[in-house]
Amino acid sequence: MTVSAPDLPPFDLDFIRTQFPAFDQPTLDGWAFFENAGGSYASRQTVDRLTQFYTETKVQPYAPYPAAILGGQLMDSAHERLAGALNVATDEVHLGPSTSQNTYVLAHAFREGWSEGDEIIVTNQDHEANSGVWRRLVDGGITVRQWAVDPITGTLDLADLDELISERTKLAAFPHCSNVVGHENPVAEICKRLFEADVISVVDGVSAAPHGLPDVSALGADIYLFSAYKTWGPHQGVMTVRRAVCQSIANQSHWFNDGEITKRLIPAGPDHAQVAAMNGVVDYIDAVHDHHFDPHSNPAVRCDRVHQLFRAQEQELLAPLLDFLDQRVDVRLLGPNDPATRVPTVALVPSRSPLDIATELATHKVMAGAGNFYAGRLIEAMGVPSAPGVLRLSFVHYTSKEEIDQLINALDQTL
Ligand SMILES: Cc1ncc(COP(=O)(O)O)c(C=O)c1O
Repeated sequence: MTVSAPDLPPFDLDFIRTQFPAFDQPTLDGWAFFENAGGSYASRQTVDRLTQFYTETKVQPYAPYPAAILGGQLMDSAHERLAGALNVATDEVHLGPSTSQNTYVLAHAFREGWSEGDEIIVTNQDHEANSGVWRRLVDGGITVRQWAVDPITGTLDLADLDELISERTKLAAFPHCSNVVGHENPVAEICKRLFEADVISVVDGVSAAPHGLPDVSALGADIYLFSAYKTWGPHQGVMTVRRAVCQSIANQSHWFNDGEITKRLIPAGPDHAQVAAMNGVVDYIDAVHDHHFDPHSNPAVRCDRVHQLFRAQEQELLAPLLDFLDQRVDVRLLGPNDPATRVPTVALVPSRSPLDIATELATHKVMAGAGNFYAGRLIEAMGVPSAPGVLRLSFVHYTSKEEIDQLINALDQTL
């Protein structure tokens, strides 16, 4: 069930902010945080779950004594609950150290099954994490084709993708949305085209998930990745892999783990506490849901409702920022200026050093980022030198209208 926008309940920002310990910290008081795309604040539930694991169950999980049994149960429930929220099966959720590490492992796993002359598609819109590991396969004889952005808008055109697919195409890696241009790609449509051409889809959802966890089944992604430390959670990479796909690629773990589906792609072994703390992300979604909506037993429905609530709130706050930037002749906005088609990750090319501006914004108690954010290929393709790069302003649902005003005032004085 999907809640349509007019049916959304009023967004209770006070409630939301009580769920984040950062908002109670004297050291952060008065500071407006606009580098969320680099890493968000952690929810109270995440911090509590980490503390619980480290204090109550920091023993070898799954061993036959109570603390170990509880530790194992907490890790298992994190997999189960995340799977429910993302609308995939429990054994399709893989938790590794980071998204970069997860894509690295995937590239090795796929390569073993491919032959010289097989083809893959990458974009120049991606963060390097979902690009470089695939491009490197060229050294082993794989043909790499680039789905390139429009240099003016920074967006990807589906017609160009169709041109790149051949009978030898095995896989296409692309972002749900870029961490620079913020535009949301039509993931379901792209995955449908790839599926029909028998091409595996690998979707980097790192920039999208902080604005609401997706229904991965509805998107049709074979592989969907995001980073929980940008999604109000612990430092952990989340990856869903369609069961049949996971079983068809080479085991990257110890040989004796080959038959254990959630171990095959996690060679390092799991970080027990971080895995258990993923419960905190789902606890948070459930807390937001139960505060705003009538109860619902289906976790994917709860997640979808919260996703819509967050997106509506973010779009309302993004509009005045984009309006302000529209009126400035001294900045170039990368990506669309329509809040409905993008996430609130806003990259600007100012008329002077982005780092100097970020440094000056800090004197107004505004935290912002400068650089290329490992998306140098995209920034260069749009005619902007990747050093010094861009000024990036990114927020999520917990940001307040007052903080947006604080940002706009500070920009007005520093740009
Ligand atoms: C869009 C995007 N993809 C991938 C990554 C890499 O994530 P991780 O730090 O978990 O490796 C980032 C990190 O900034 C990102 O912004």
